[in-house]
Amino acid sequence: MLITIDDVLSSEELANVRGLLADSGWVSGQVTAGAQAALVKNNQQIPEDAPQLPELRRIVLGALQRNPLFFTAALPLKILPPFFNRYAGSSNTYGLHTDNAMRLSGDGQYVRADVSATLFLSDPESYEGGELVIQDAAGRREIKLKAGSVVVYPSSYLHEVTPVTRGERLGCFMFMQSMVRDVDQRRILFDMDMALLQLRQNFGEIPSVVSLTGVYHNLLREWAES
Ligand code: NI
Repeated sequence: MLITIDDVLSSEELANVRGLLADSGWVSGQVTAGAQAALVKNNQQIPEDAPQLPELRRIVLGALQRNPLFFTAALPLKILPPFFNRYAGSSNTYGLHTDNAMRLSGDGQYVRADVSATLFLSDPESYEGGELVIQDAAGRREIKLKAGSVVVYPSSYLHEVTPVTRGERLGCFMFMQSMVRDVDQRRILFDMDMALLQLRQNFGEIPSVVSLTGVYHNLLREWAES
């Protein structure tokens, strides 16, 4: 289950984010990688103590939280603070890896990474390479989105970022624990919600749409944890 959402950031937010990133320094991306991932990770990240980081995180989380498609795709229970990264020059790639299943949040609690999201921040024409390659049951999917757009995918999928051979690829990535742990159940809920949206647009709130909406919420009640 891999869902792309266009224009999560407004053009004003994108400009703000880029400005803040231009003002902040970069350190090795090794700081947040697990042991296996560290072997293949060669990029840069904004350091945790960067003064721009709280505002960057506020903008991105605010944009995601007002996006109904993001909500229904991820059903987020807890979202860990996003990281910002850069692929350019000799720090330009992140080989095939898996993300750690359990991640410490700021308050010392563990959060289970069910869903990962990557927000693209550079215009795709401005750099060469830098595809996010995700391996799902259907095979390899190469993702390179326009700036301000996001891809949401299960954290259990192996993935990599191919070498950036020209220009600079700025991005933001984050992990979240979903209310619905099982990827197949999340898929069913997502498909049903999308179909309901279509039905509602075509026919309005007719009794069968209301009834099916009840079924959606009953399934969510059955499967969600909070
Ligand atoms: Ni990863």
